[in-house]
Amino acid sequence: MSVPLPAHRRLPRSLYLHIPFCHRRCFYCDFPVVPLGDQADGSRSPSVEHYLALLLQDLDAAPVGPPLSTLYIGGGTPSLLSPEQLGRLLGAVRCHWGLAPGAEVTLEMDPASFDQQRLESVLTLGVNRVSLGGQSFDDAVLAGLGRRHRAEQLREACGWLQQAQRAGLLQSWSLDLIVNLPDQTVQHWGWELEQAMEQAPPHLSIYDLIVEPGTVFERRHRAGQLNLPEQDFAADQLEYTHSRLALAGYGHYEISSWALPGHVSRHNRSYWSGAGWWAFGLGATSGVGGERLVRPRTRDAYSSWVQHHAGHQGGDPALMPPLEDLLLVGLRRREGVDLLWLQRSGLWKSSQPLVMWLQQALKPWLEQGLAVLTKERLRLPAPAGFGLSNAVLADLLLALERAEPSAPTG
Ligand SMILES: C[S@@+](CC[C@H](N)C(=O)[O-])C[C@H]1O[C@@H](n2cnc3c(N)ncnc32)[C@H](O)[C@@H]1O
Ligand code: SF4
Repeated sequence: MSVPLPAHRRLPRSLYLHIPFCHRRCFYCDFPVVPLGDQADGSRSPSVEHYLALLLQDLDAAPVGPPLSTLYIGGGTPSLLSPEQLGRLLGAVRCHWGLAPGAEVTLEMDPASFDQQRLESVLTLGVNRVSLGGQSFDDAVLAGLGRRHRAEQLREACGWLQQAQRAGLLQSWSLDLIVNLPDQTVQHWGWELEQAMEQAPPHLSIYDLIVEPGTVFERRHRAGQLNLPEQDFAADQLEYTHSRLALAGYGHYEISSWALPGHVSRHNRSYWSGAGWWAFGLGATSGVGGERLVRPRTRDAYSSWVQHHAGHQGGDPALMPPLEDLLLVGLRRREGVDLLWLQRSGLWKSSQPLVMWLQQALKPWLEQGLAVLTKERLRLPAPAGFGLSNAVLADLLLALERAEPSAPTG
């Protein structure tokens, strides 16, 4: 990778737009979402219209920059918006920054929120990649997750995406699944994976269940009603998933992401480009000029933030400093952390060379072969190292905390 200009001299070429509306809140989800009810449709909802006006105000106040190479419309359930509403958003983005030729434009879609006709309308707007929130192919599991869709709808949605891809209307699509669910067995996960592969998604995101504070799952967990798998089970599942998907031709390029050749998500990767990313909407985190900014997570607070601070892209000192953030993301990628880039970026402020410091901080992991360090890179070998990334990262963050305050952090 070539060494980018210092962060403050570059403007993002990636943009995230957050659409917080969902039909209902799934039992495991703590994303900033606003449930609208099972029959909701964005075009008939005053809440959605009000939010879109705020979002456009937030976006319009941002500095103009180079045309974007990736745009990701996520949520929530952005497929709840009508094609006309999505068209308005895309129009504003095109007008403000423009989209570079060949830009990747992703839309997150929930299987119960669209039909084939709606999909085709959305694709004519310029969306060329879809991320489908499948989660499971088992109706009982879907009901247990609090999902609105069922397996038949998921298979149908996958079929429409396959057809659109074959017809050249869609460049790529991705399927989300959740693993390590309550009561899950090895056999059941093996079955889920086979069901997913039958749909031949060019990209798969497989997330370990996280029991998030404030969710229905957390309440059940506290009440002793969730039979969660052991840590070893999760590591075994990851190893199994890694080898089964490798056999089917999928590369494991980030801890939770697998892609067939040519289908890696460019938006996911933009994080590491050094140029940061724009982000707008409720709870959205942007990284512009090397500084993070998290917008408020409730509608009233976001509305007031837009009235008073729209256009502000600066950092918040309470947020995680960029060095930790980059390590966190870097260790989840197959190629790991680019140490030469970090050293030259100025984020590493100690006089001790970064490689030497890492040698000490991660000694046990390096000795066991669960982390690999060269002059250029620190990486965790998949799948064993990936499976332990949280533990390695925890050691690294602890070592950073213990280091002299003026030393490493950015
Ligand atoms: C923000 S959601 C957007 C997708 C879309 N709303 C949907 O669910 O159909 C992105 C993905 O995050 C994953 N996810 C959300 N909360 C999670 C949790 N607590 N544990 C594991 N995965 C989670 C789900 O797989 C979901 O598809
Ligand atoms: S998982 Fe997706 S559909 Fe479910 S509440 Fe979260 S964002 Fe909404």
